Amino acid sequence: MKKPWAGRFKEKTADIVEDFTESVSFDWRLWPYDVEGSIAHARMLARQSIIKRDEANTIIEGLREIAGEIASGRFRWDRKLEDVHMNIETALIRKVGAVGGKLHTARSRNDQVALDTRLYLREESRAVTRLVTKFGKVLLRLAKKHINTAMPGYTHLQRAQPVSFSHHLLAYVEMLQRDRERLEDAMKRINTLPLGACALAGTTLPTDRTYLAGLLKFERIAENSMDAVSDRDFVIEFLSAGAILMMHLSRMAEELVLWSTDEFSFVELPDAYTTGSSIMPQKKNPDVAELIRGKTGRVYGSLVSLLTIMKGLPLTYNRDMQEDKEPLFDTVDTLKGVLAMLVALFPRIKVRKDRLEKALHGGYMLATDLAEYLVLRGLPFRDAHDATGRIVRHAVEKGVALRELSLEEMRGFSPLIDEDVFEVLGVEDSLRRRKSRGGTSPDEVKRQIQRLEKSI
Ligand code: ARG
Repeated sequence: MKKPWAGRFKEKTADIVEDFTESVSFDWRLWPYDVEGSIAHARMLARQSIIKRDEANTIIEGLREIAGEIASGRFRWDRKLEDVHMNIETALIRKVGAVGGKLHTARSRNDQVALDTRLYLREESRAVTRLVTKFGKVLLRLAKKHINTAMPGYTHLQRAQPVSFSHHLLAYVEMLQRDRERLEDAMKRINTLPLGACALAGTTLPTDRTYLAGLLKFERIAENSMDAVSDRDFVIEFLSAGAILMMHLSRMAEELVLWSTDEFSFVELPDAYTTGSSIMPQKKNPDVAELIRGKTGRVYGSLVSLLTIMKGLPLTYNRDMQEDKEPLFDTVDTLKGVLAMLVALFPRIKVRKDRLEKALHGGYMLATDLAEYLVLRGLPFRDAHDATGRIVRHAVEKGVALRELSLEEMRGFSPLIDEDVFEVLGVEDSLRRRKSRGGTSPDEVKRQIQRLEKSI
Protein backbone atom coordinates (compact mmCIF):
# COMPACT_ATOMS: atom_id res chain seq x y z
CA MET A 1 0.00 0.00 0.00
CA LYS A 2 1.56 3.29 -1.10
CA LYS A 3 1.37 5.94 1.57
CA PRO A 4 0.00 9.37 0.65
CA TRP A 5 3.27 10.87 1.85
CA ALA A 6 5.59 8.30 0.19
CA GLY A 7 7.24 10.71 -2.29
CA ARG A 8 9.93 11.96 0.04
CA PHE A 9 11.03 8.52 1.24
CA LYS A 10 13.56 6.06 -0.16
CA GLU A 11 12.94 3.34 2.38
CA LYS A 12 9.74 1.60 3.29
CA THR A 13 8.42 2.23 6.83
CA ALA A 14 9.48 -0.50 9.25
CA ASP A 15 6.63 -2.77 10.37
CA ILE A 16 7.41 -2.07 13.99
CA VAL A 17 7.07 1.67 13.32
CA GLU A 18 3.76 1.19 11.59
CA ASP A 19 2.43 -0.69 14.58
CA PHE A 20 3.82 1.87 16.96
CA THR A 21 2.47 4.97 15.23
CA GLU A 22 -0.90 3.82 13.92
CA SER A 23 -4.06 5.23 15.47
CA VAL A 24 -6.73 3.75 13.21
CA SER A 25 -7.32 0.92 15.67
CA PHE A 26 -9.03 3.50 17.88
CA ASP A 27 -9.60 6.68 15.85
CA TRP A 28 -11.73 4.81 13.28
CA ARG A 29 -14.58 5.92 15.56
CA LEU A 30 -14.20 9.41 14.16
CA TRP A 31 -15.28 8.32 10.68
CA PRO A 32 -18.74 9.94 10.61
CA TYR A 33 -17.17 13.28 11.51
CA ASP A 34 -14.28 12.81 9.12
CA VAL A 35 -16.73 12.23 6.27
CA GLU A 36 -18.94 15.14 7.32
CA GLY A 37 -15.94 17.47 7.49
CA SER A 38 -14.61 16.31 4.12
CA ILE A 39 -17.96 16.85 2.41
CA ALA A 40 -18.12 20.41 3.75
CA HIS A 41 -14.52 20.98 2.70
CA ALA A 42 -15.21 19.76 -0.85
CA ARG A 43 -18.23 22.05 -1.12
CA MET A 44 -16.19 25.01 0.04
CA LEU A 45 -13.41 24.23 -2.45
CA ALA A 46 -15.94 24.16 -5.31
CA ARG A 47 -17.69 27.32 -4.17
CA GLN A 48 -14.34 29.10 -4.16
CA SER A 49 -13.53 27.65 -7.62
CA ILE A 50 -10.48 25.91 -6.17
CA ILE A 51 -11.87 22.68 -7.64
CA LYS A 52 -14.66 22.26 -10.19
CA ARG A 53 -18.26 21.74 -9.15
CA ASP A 54 -18.47 18.29 -10.81
CA GLU A 55 -15.19 17.27 -9.19
CA ALA A 56 -16.65 18.16 -5.81
CA ASN A 57 -19.77 16.16 -6.62
CA THR A 58 -17.70 13.12 -7.54
CA ILE A 59 -15.75 13.44 -4.29
CA ILE A 60 -18.91 13.85 -2.22
CA GLU A 61 -20.59 10.89 -3.86
CA GLY A 62 -17.49 8.76 -3.24
CA LEU A 63 -17.37 9.82 0.41
CA ARG A 64 -21.03 8.93 0.86
CA GLU A 65 -20.42 5.47 -0.59
CA ILE A 66 -17.48 4.97 1.73
CA ALA A 67 -19.63 6.03 4.68
CA GLY A 68 -22.18 3.41 3.65
CA GLU A 69 -19.47 0.75 3.47
CA ILE A 70 -18.14 1.66 6.91
CA ALA A 71 -21.62 1.77 8.45
CA SER A 72 -22.43 -1.69 7.11
CA GLY A 73 -19.11 -3.16 8.21
CA ARG A 74 -17.79 -3.75 4.69
CA PHE A 75 -14.90 -1.30 4.94
CA ARG A 76 -11.40 -2.67 5.59
CA TRP A 77 -9.32 -0.49 7.86
CA ASP A 78 -5.60 -0.69 7.13
CA ARG A 79 -3.03 -0.02 9.86
CA LYS A 80 -0.44 0.79 7.21
CA LEU A 81 -2.50 3.87 6.41
CA GLU A 82 -2.01 5.10 9.96
CA ASP A 83 -5.26 6.78 10.84
CA VAL A 84 -8.91 7.27 9.98
CA HIS A 85 -8.10 10.26 7.78
CA MET A 86 -5.65 8.52 5.45
CA ASN A 87 -7.76 5.38 5.32
CA ILE A 88 -10.77 7.29 4.07
CA GLU A 89 -8.82 9.52 1.69
CA THR A 90 -7.01 6.55 0.18
CA ALA A 91 -10.29 4.65 -0.24
CA LEU A 92 -11.74 7.70 -1.97
CA ILE A 93 -8.90 7.91 -4.47
CA ARG A 94 -9.19 4.19 -5.13
CA LYS A 95 -12.90 4.63 -5.73
CA VAL A 96 -13.12 7.82 -7.82
CA GLY A 97 -9.61 8.03 -9.25
CA ALA A 98 -7.16 10.92 -9.33
CA VAL A 99 -9.85 13.56 -8.73
CA GLY A 100 -10.14 12.17 -5.19
CA GLY A 101 -6.63 13.52 -4.69
CA LYS A 102 -8.07 17.05 -4.85
CA LEU A 103 -9.94 16.71 -1.56
CA HIS A 104 -6.89 17.37 0.58
CA THR A 105 -6.29 20.76 -1.09
CA ALA A 106 -5.90 23.54 1.49
CA ARG A 107 -6.19 21.07 4.33
CA SER A 108 -3.85 19.15 6.59
CA ARG A 109 -4.46 16.25 8.92
CA ASN A 110 -3.61 18.74 11.64
CA ASP A 111 -6.73 20.85 11.17
CA GLN A 112 -8.66 17.77 10.04
CA VAL A 113 -8.09 15.83 13.25
CA ALA A 114 -8.90 18.89 15.35
CA LEU A 115 -12.14 19.26 13.39
CA ASP A 116 -13.12 15.59 13.73
CA THR A 117 -12.45 15.61 17.47
CA ARG A 118 -14.52 18.75 17.95
CA LEU A 119 -17.43 17.40 15.90
CA TYR A 120 -17.30 14.15 17.86
CA LEU A 121 -17.13 15.89 21.22
CA ARG A 122 -19.84 18.38 20.30
CA GLU A 123 -22.24 15.49 19.81
CA GLU A 124 -21.05 13.34 22.70
CA SER A 125 -20.87 16.16 25.20
CA ARG A 126 -24.51 16.97 24.42
CA ALA A 127 -25.39 13.31 24.95
CA VAL A 128 -23.64 13.35 28.34
CA THR A 129 -25.40 16.60 29.27
CA ARG A 130 -28.77 15.08 28.39
CA LEU A 131 -28.04 12.10 30.64
CA VAL A 132 -27.03 14.39 33.50
CA THR A 133 -30.38 16.14 33.15
CA LYS A 134 -32.21 12.85 32.96
CA PHE A 135 -30.58 11.57 36.12
CA GLY A 136 -31.35 14.86 37.88
CA LYS A 137 -35.01 14.33 36.99
CA VAL A 138 -34.93 10.79 38.36
CA LEU A 139 -33.58 12.12 41.67
CA LEU A 140 -36.16 14.90 41.74
CA ARG A 141 -38.97 12.40 41.26
CA LEU A 142 -37.69 10.34 44.20
CA ALA A 143 -37.18 13.47 46.29
CA LYS A 144 -40.84 14.43 45.80
CA LYS A 145 -41.87 11.22 47.53
CA HIS A 146 -39.70 11.76 50.59
CA ILE A 147 -40.24 15.33 51.72
CA ASN A 148 -41.46 14.05 55.07
CA THR A 149 -39.09 11.10 55.42
CA ALA A 150 -36.66 12.02 58.17
CA MET A 151 -33.16 10.60 58.46
CA PRO A 152 -29.95 11.48 60.26
CA GLY A 153 -27.81 14.06 58.52
CA TYR A 154 -24.11 13.47 59.08
CA THR A 155 -20.88 15.37 59.51
CA HIS A 156 -17.68 13.37 60.03
CA LEU A 157 -19.99 10.40 59.39
CA GLN A 158 -21.33 11.03 62.90
CA ARG A 159 -25.01 11.70 63.39
CA ALA A 160 -25.43 15.46 63.34
CA GLN A 161 -28.95 16.80 62.76
CA PRO A 162 -32.12 15.33 61.31
CA VAL A 163 -32.74 16.10 57.65
CA SER A 164 -35.30 14.87 55.18
CA PHE A 165 -34.31 12.14 52.73
CA SER A 166 -35.54 14.47 50.05
CA HIS A 167 -33.14 17.20 51.17
CA HIS A 168 -30.24 14.76 50.97
CA LEU A 169 -31.19 13.81 47.40
CA LEU A 170 -31.59 17.43 46.37
CA ALA A 171 -28.00 18.11 47.40
CA TYR A 172 -27.00 15.79 44.57
CA VAL A 173 -29.39 17.49 42.18
CA GLU A 174 -27.59 20.77 42.91
CA MET A 175 -24.25 19.12 42.07
CA LEU A 176 -25.68 17.78 38.82
CA GLN A 177 -26.96 21.23 37.93
CA ARG A 178 -23.46 22.63 38.30
CA ASP A 179 -22.10 19.72 36.24
CA ARG A 180 -24.55 20.57 33.50
CA GLU A 181 -23.53 24.23 33.61
CA ARG A 182 -19.87 23.29 33.31
CA LEU A 183 -20.54 21.04 30.30
CA GLU A 184 -22.64 23.75 28.66
CA ASP A 185 -19.97 26.34 29.24
CA ALA A 186 -17.27 24.10 27.77
CA MET A 187 -19.48 23.71 24.70
CA LYS A 188 -18.77 27.32 23.64
CA ARG A 189 -15.14 26.42 23.19
CA ILE A 190 -15.73 22.93 21.79
CA ASN A 191 -17.97 24.50 19.15
CA THR A 192 -15.17 26.39 17.41
CA LEU A 193 -14.05 25.67 13.83
CA PRO A 194 -10.35 24.78 13.36
CA LEU A 195 -10.66 23.71 9.70
CA GLY A 196 -8.90 26.00 7.27
CA ALA A 197 -5.91 26.49 9.55
CA CYS A 198 -4.25 23.83 7.36
CA ALA A 199 -0.91 22.56 8.68
CA LEU A 200 -0.32 25.60 10.90
CA ALA A 201 -0.04 28.80 8.89
CA GLY A 202 -3.16 29.00 6.74
CA THR A 203 -3.02 28.75 2.96
CA THR A 204 -2.22 30.73 -0.16
CA LEU A 205 -5.46 29.41 -1.73
CA PRO A 206 -8.66 31.51 -1.57
CA THR A 207 -10.58 29.44 1.00
CA ASP A 208 -13.66 30.63 2.91
CA ARG A 209 -13.71 29.60 6.55
CA THR A 210 -16.85 31.53 7.35
CA TYR A 211 -18.71 29.44 4.79
CA LEU A 212 -17.24 26.26 6.36
CA ALA A 213 -18.33 27.36 9.81
CA GLY A 214 -21.87 27.84 8.51
CA LEU A 215 -21.96 24.45 6.81
CA LEU A 216 -20.66 22.64 9.87
CA LYS A 217 -22.74 24.76 12.29
CA PHE A 218 -19.86 26.12 14.33
CA GLU A 219 -20.57 29.12 16.54
CA ARG A 220 -17.02 30.45 16.38
CA ILE A 221 -13.94 30.24 14.16
CA ALA A 222 -10.50 29.59 15.63
CA GLU A 223 -8.89 32.92 14.75
CA ASN A 224 -5.23 31.96 14.94
CA SER A 225 -4.19 29.10 12.66
CA MET A 226 -1.32 28.08 14.93
CA ASP A 227 -3.60 27.92 17.95
CA ALA A 228 -6.26 26.13 15.90
CA VAL A 229 -4.05 23.08 15.26
CA SER A 230 -2.33 22.96 18.64
CA ASP A 231 -5.26 23.63 20.97
CA ARG A 232 -6.66 20.73 22.98
CA ASP A 233 -8.11 22.89 25.78
CA PHE A 234 -11.58 21.84 24.72
CA VAL A 235 -10.74 18.18 25.41
CA ILE A 236 -9.19 19.07 28.77
CA GLU A 237 -12.20 21.15 29.75
CA PHE A 238 -14.56 18.32 28.94
CA LEU A 239 -12.40 15.84 30.89
CA SER A 240 -12.26 18.24 33.77
CA ALA A 241 -16.05 18.68 33.84
CA GLY A 242 -16.28 14.88 33.54
CA ALA A 243 -13.87 14.35 36.44
CA ILE A 244 -15.91 16.64 38.70
CA LEU A 245 -19.11 14.92 37.61
CA MET A 246 -17.59 11.50 38.41
CA MET A 247 -16.46 12.79 41.80
CA HIS A 248 -20.10 13.59 42.57
CA LEU A 249 -21.38 10.27 41.27
CA SER A 250 -18.68 8.47 43.23
CA ARG A 251 -19.72 10.13 46.48
CA MET A 252 -23.26 9.07 45.79
CA ALA A 253 -22.12 5.53 44.96
CA GLU A 254 -20.20 5.45 48.23
CA GLU A 255 -23.39 6.34 50.10
CA LEU A 256 -25.25 3.54 48.33
CA VAL A 257 -22.54 1.10 49.38
CA LEU A 258 -22.71 2.34 52.95
CA TRP A 259 -26.48 2.57 53.09
CA SER A 260 -26.97 -0.97 51.82
CA THR A 261 -24.82 -2.52 54.60
CA ASP A 262 -26.50 -4.39 57.45
CA GLU A 263 -25.11 -1.70 59.71
CA PHE A 264 -27.04 1.09 57.98
CA SER A 265 -29.73 -0.65 55.91
CA PHE A 266 -31.14 2.71 54.85
CA VAL A 267 -31.79 1.36 51.37
CA GLU A 268 -32.24 -1.96 49.69
CA LEU A 269 -30.82 -2.45 46.22
CA PRO A 270 -32.86 -4.52 43.77
CA ASP A 271 -31.63 -8.08 43.18
CA ALA A 272 -31.35 -7.39 39.47
CA TYR A 273 -28.80 -4.66 40.19
CA THR A 274 -26.60 -6.51 42.66
CA THR A 275 -24.33 -9.53 42.41
CA GLY A 276 -23.55 -12.56 44.52
CA SER A 277 -20.45 -14.20 45.88
CA SER A 278 -18.89 -17.33 44.43
CA ILE A 279 -18.28 -18.72 47.90
CA MET A 280 -20.52 -17.00 50.45
CA PRO A 281 -24.12 -17.96 49.69
CA GLN A 282 -25.68 -15.17 51.77
CA LYS A 283 -23.98 -12.30 49.96
CA LYS A 284 -25.68 -9.61 47.93
CA ASN A 285 -23.05 -7.13 46.88
CA PRO A 286 -23.40 -3.55 45.63
CA ASP A 287 -20.92 -4.07 42.76
CA VAL A 288 -22.65 -1.56 40.52
CA ALA A 289 -22.12 1.24 43.02
CA GLU A 290 -18.57 0.09 43.68
CA LEU A 291 -17.75 0.12 39.97
CA ILE A 292 -19.13 3.63 39.63
CA ARG A 293 -16.84 4.66 42.47
CA GLY A 294 -13.96 2.76 40.85
CA LYS A 295 -14.45 4.12 37.35
CA THR A 296 -13.89 7.60 38.72
CA GLY A 297 -10.21 6.65 38.74
CA ARG A 298 -10.04 6.20 35.00
CA VAL A 299 -11.71 9.54 34.33
CA TYR A 300 -9.30 11.36 36.66
CA GLY A 301 -6.49 9.46 34.94
CA SER A 302 -7.64 10.67 31.54
CA LEU A 303 -7.66 14.27 32.69
CA VAL A 304 -4.17 13.98 34.11
CA SER A 305 -3.00 12.20 30.92
CA LEU A 306 -4.14 15.07 28.72
CA LEU A 307 -2.73 17.77 30.96
CA THR A 308 0.58 15.93 30.98
CA ILE A 309 0.63 15.22 27.25
CA MET A 310 0.11 18.89 26.48
CA LYS A 311 2.33 20.54 29.05
CA GLY A 312 5.65 20.40 27.23
CA LEU A 313 4.60 20.70 23.61
CA PRO A 314 6.18 23.43 21.51
CA LEU A 315 3.78 25.01 19.04
CA THR A 316 2.14 23.77 16.94
CA TYR A 317 1.01 20.20 16.18
CA ASN A 318 3.06 17.36 17.63
CA ARG A 319 2.34 13.69 17.27
CA ASP A 320 2.05 13.41 21.05
CA MET A 321 -1.42 14.85 20.55
CA GLN A 322 -2.62 11.62 18.97
CA GLU A 323 -2.58 10.29 22.54
CA ASP A 324 -5.61 12.46 23.33
CA LYS A 325 -8.10 10.10 21.73
CA GLU A 326 -8.18 7.01 23.89
CA PRO A 327 -8.58 8.96 27.15
CA LEU A 328 -11.30 11.07 25.55
CA PHE A 329 -13.22 8.13 24.08
CA ASP A 330 -12.89 6.19 27.30
CA THR A 331 -14.21 9.11 29.32
CA VAL A 332 -17.21 9.61 27.04
CA ASP A 333 -18.02 5.88 27.19
CA THR A 334 -17.56 5.77 30.97
CA LEU A 335 -19.71 8.83 31.66
CA LYS A 336 -22.51 7.60 29.42
CA GLY A 337 -22.38 4.11 30.91
CA VAL A 338 -22.35 5.30 34.51
CA LEU A 339 -25.17 7.82 34.02
CA ALA A 340 -27.35 5.32 32.15
CA MET A 341 -26.74 2.86 35.00
CA LEU A 342 -27.85 5.36 37.64
CA VAL A 343 -30.92 6.36 35.65
CA ALA A 344 -31.95 2.70 35.56
CA LEU A 345 -31.00 1.88 39.15
CA PHE A 346 -32.44 4.74 41.18
CA PRO A 347 -36.14 4.26 40.55
CA ARG A 348 -35.71 0.69 41.82
CA ILE A 349 -33.97 1.48 45.09
CA LYS A 350 -36.12 0.71 48.12
CA VAL A 351 -35.94 3.36 50.84
CA ARG A 352 -36.18 1.74 54.29
CA LYS A 353 -38.20 4.35 56.21
CA ASP A 354 -38.28 2.08 59.26
CA ARG A 355 -34.48 1.99 59.41
CA LEU A 356 -34.13 5.73 58.84
CA GLU A 357 -36.59 6.27 61.65
CA LYS A 358 -34.69 3.96 63.96
CA ALA A 359 -31.42 5.72 63.25
CA LEU A 360 -32.97 8.97 64.46
CA HIS A 361 -33.29 7.70 68.01
CA GLY A 362 -30.10 8.19 69.89
CA GLY A 363 -27.22 10.33 68.80
CA TYR A 364 -28.67 13.45 70.45
CA MET A 365 -29.31 15.05 67.09
CA LEU A 366 -31.72 17.59 68.55
CA ALA A 367 -29.07 19.16 70.79
CA THR A 368 -28.69 22.12 68.41
CA ASP A 369 -32.46 22.60 68.53
CA LEU A 370 -32.25 22.81 72.30
CA ALA A 371 -29.39 25.32 72.14
CA GLU A 372 -31.39 27.46 69.69
CA TYR A 373 -34.38 27.24 72.04
CA LEU A 374 -32.21 28.81 74.73
CA VAL A 375 -30.97 31.46 72.29
CA LEU A 376 -34.58 32.46 71.63
CA ARG A 377 -34.89 32.95 75.39
CA GLY A 378 -32.04 35.43 75.38
CA LEU A 379 -29.02 33.28 76.18
CA PRO A 380 -25.86 34.04 74.13
CA PHE A 381 -25.24 31.11 71.78
CA ARG A 382 -21.93 30.13 73.39
CA ASP A 383 -23.62 29.81 76.81
CA ALA A 384 -26.56 27.95 75.27
CA HIS A 385 -24.09 25.57 73.57
CA ASP A 386 -22.32 24.99 76.88
CA ALA A 387 -25.51 24.38 78.89
CA THR A 388 -26.86 22.03 76.23
CA GLY A 389 -23.53 20.20 76.13
CA ARG A 390 -23.82 19.58 79.84
CA ILE A 391 -27.40 18.38 79.47
CA VAL A 392 -26.28 15.96 76.74
CA ARG A 393 -23.46 14.66 78.90
CA HIS A 394 -25.91 14.10 81.73
CA ALA A 395 -28.27 12.20 79.41
CA VAL A 396 -25.39 10.14 77.97
CA GLU A 397 -24.33 9.17 81.48
CA LYS A 398 -27.90 8.21 82.34
CA GLY A 399 -28.26 6.39 79.06
CA VAL A 400 -31.45 8.20 78.03
CA ALA A 401 -32.59 10.43 75.20
CA LEU A 402 -32.94 14.21 75.70
CA ARG A 403 -36.72 14.10 75.74
CA GLU A 404 -36.62 11.40 78.40
CA LEU A 405 -35.08 13.84 80.91
CA SER A 406 -37.48 15.55 83.29
CA LEU A 407 -38.10 19.27 83.20
CA GLU A 408 -36.51 19.64 86.64
CA GLU A 409 -33.36 17.84 85.55
CA MET A 410 -33.01 20.17 82.58
CA ARG A 411 -33.77 23.27 84.61
CA GLY A 412 -30.85 22.28 86.80
CA PHE A 413 -28.64 23.27 83.84
CA SER A 414 -30.59 26.37 82.83
CA PRO A 415 -33.55 28.05 84.54
CA LEU A 416 -34.60 29.42 81.15
CA ILE A 417 -35.98 26.00 80.22
CA ASP A 418 -39.78 25.63 80.46
CA GLU A 419 -42.46 23.04 79.77
CA ASP A 420 -42.51 24.02 76.07
CA VAL A 421 -38.98 22.64 75.65
CA PHE A 422 -40.51 19.30 74.74
CA GLU A 423 -41.96 20.91 71.62
CA VAL A 424 -38.47 21.33 70.22
CA LEU A 425 -37.34 17.85 71.16
CA GLY A 426 -39.27 16.00 68.45
CA VAL A 427 -37.77 15.13 65.06
CA GLU A 428 -40.78 16.25 63.06
CA ASP A 429 -40.79 19.66 64.73
CA SER A 430 -37.08 19.92 64.24
CA LEU A 431 -37.48 19.48 60.49
CA ARG A 432 -40.52 21.74 60.28
CA ARG A 433 -38.76 24.59 62.02
CA ARG A 434 -35.64 24.56 59.84
CA LYS A 435 -37.19 27.09 57.48
CA SER A 436 -34.07 29.11 56.70
CA ARG A 437 -33.45 29.43 52.98
CA GLY A 438 -31.92 26.19 51.74
CA GLY A 439 -32.86 24.42 54.98
CA THR A 440 -34.46 21.03 55.41
CA SER A 441 -38.03 22.02 56.42
CA PRO A 442 -40.74 20.46 54.23
CA ASP A 443 -41.86 23.95 53.12
CA GLU A 444 -38.38 24.90 52.09
CA VAL A 445 -37.69 21.54 50.45
CA LYS A 446 -40.90 21.92 48.42
CA ARG A 447 -39.74 25.34 47.31
CA GLN A 448 -36.38 23.85 46.28
CA ILE A 449 -38.11 21.10 44.31
CA GLN A 450 -40.26 23.64 42.48
CA ARG A 451 -37.24 25.75 41.61
CA LEU A 452 -35.26 22.73 40.42
CA GLU A 453 -38.16 21.43 38.38
CA LYS A 454 -38.16 24.71 36.50
CA SER A 455 -34.43 25.00 35.98
CA ILE A 456 -33.60 21.38 35.18
N1 ARG B 1 -3.56 10.56 13.72
C1 ARG B 1 -3.12 11.91 13.96
C2 ARG B 1 -3.61 12.38 15.32
O1 ARG B 1 -4.48 11.80 15.83
C3 ARG B 1 -3.64 12.82 12.90
C4 ARG B 1 -2.79 14.00 12.63
C5 ARG B 1 -1.48 13.57 12.07
N2 ARG B 1 -0.74 14.69 11.60
C6 ARG B 1 0.52 14.57 11.29
N3 ARG B 1 1.13 15.64 10.86
N4 ARG B 1 1.19 13.46 11.43
O2 ARG B 1 -3.12 13.32 15.86
